[in-house]
Amino acid sequence: MAYNSQLFIILATLALVSPCILATEFIVGDDKGWTINFDYQAWAQGKQFYVGDKLVFNYPKGAHNVFKVNGTGFQQCAAPLDSVPLTSGNDVISLATPGRKWYICGVAKHCAVGNQKLLITVLPSSFAPSPSLTASSPSTSIPYTSAASASLGIKYGWMMAVVGILGLLMA
Ligand SMILES: *[C@@H]1O[C@H](CO)[C@@H](O)[C@H](O)[C@H]1NC(C)=O
Repeated sequence: MAYNSQLFIILATLALVSPCILATEFIVGDDKGWTINFDYQAWAQGKQFYVGDKLVFNYPKGAHNVFKVNGTGFQQCAAPLDSVPLTSGNDVISLATPGRKWYICGVAKHCAVGNQKLLITVLPSSFAPSPSLTASSPSTSIPYTSAASASLGIKYGWMMAVVGILGLLMA
């Protein structure tokens, strides 16, 4: 049947583009956002971060910032002198490489006293990364996109919705 072959082509296309569709955006701290006196290790617990996913740091612009640091900087709440923080209040960081990632707030003693620090472990993607993610700048290691990027929602749920709608259209 013609419908069956059309459906096959659509599903095959979805399978090809799904690595992009399935990227997850994590709102750091969820409703609380990026702030002091929040347990970000508890927040990260049980979540699985993959290459291609994004972290979104939300906070009132000027109240906080986001530095990417190494393990030492994380322990000591110290940002490298030559590094530039993200300050937009809606900072989106694409997780471009696997491994441990450390983020701290560099404002006042928010990290040391307010515990405003986040450690995550990024797992390798089971999909090939999209070209935009591999094209990170060579030395400074925070590739980030504008906040305008669409919220992509929950993995699989999105794709199931598309398949469901396609199913209705085919019926
Ligand atoms: C961590 O970053 C600091 C700069 O803030 C640097 O001096 C130090 O060598 C780094 N440590 C490692 C293990 O890369």
